Amino acid sequence: MNSKSLVSIDDISRDEILDLIEKAKYFEENPNLKVLDGKVVATLFFEPSTRTRLSFETAVNRLGGRVIGFSDASTSSSAKGETLKDTIKMVSNYADLIVMRHYLEGAARYATEVTEVPIINAGDGSNQHPSQTMLDLYSISKTQGKLNDLTITMVGDLKYGRTVHSLLMAMRYFNPTFNFVACDELQMPAEYKDFCDTHGIKYKEHTEFSPEVINSSDILYMTRVQRERFTDIMEYEKVKNLYTLRNSMLADAKDNLRVLHPLPRINEIDQDVDDNPKAYYFDQARNGLFARQAIICRALGIDPEKN
Ligand code: CP
Repeated sequence: MNSKSLVSIDDISRDEILDLIEKAKYFEENPNLKVLDGKVVATLFFEPSTRTRLSFETAVNRLGGRVIGFSDASTSSSAKGETLKDTIKMVSNYADLIVMRHYLEGAARYATEVTEVPIINAGDGSNQHPSQTMLDLYSISKTQGKLNDLTITMVGDLKYGRTVHSLLMAMRYFNPTFNFVACDELQMPAEYKDFCDTHGIKYKEHTEFSPEVINSSDILYMTRVQRERFTDIMEYEKVKNLYTLRNSMLADAKDNLRVLHPLPRINEIDQDVDDNPKAYYFDQARNGLFARQAIICRALGIDPEKN
């Protein structure tokens, strides 16, 4: 595996996380540095995406590199039966870096085993979404002025939501207190609760999205119920509308509270929240551009401040 790959947020240290946040800040101030001249980045999306793919591609374009790839695997030779291994080996002939999203957990890790080209995991099934976590951490740091000692409430699909899994793991360095709000069917999986126990992370589980939980939070991290992970659509129908945040529910929230959501949203956040100054999800998505510029430079061994 190329040591510059980013497959799981757990692959990088606290110092590297903090350095990526500093670099994201630098790119927000200098978004058009041409440090990728001559570099080709492949974006291979075996699952749909708006933000992740377009922000990675914008990041490359703004840094002066070139992008190849596909946004729909049905237009690639995987539709003819080509294996993931062969696809990765082929694309490695053309690109300096591969950004990939795949529906199978572990697909990005597997890709690192068949190529020396660095791989960035842009989401593998319900497992991990580390670049989302970097933009989440950048967003939390910007809005709270710190990462330490925050109460973070995660709401919705904690079973299949890869963004909450990655964020939980990254926060281990920063002494968080978590509230996990989910119905019985979509609870945080045992492996992540074990991770909390192993690392001394405090958490409480709730099935009710109560005023007490909201009003004690610094970050409210809403998530979509991941319809594409359900094998039985009736099970999805049962749980899809259980938790919706409405503007009135924020009336007594802390001043510093910010509402995050990796997006896309379906109906977890009512549109009447959008104009509340505590709504941060569109800014959060914008931060993805800068966080991904930092991640790309790390993967390619480029220090933007020395170029
Ligand atoms: N947050 C996120 O991964 O969004 P997309 O699915 O649109 O990339």
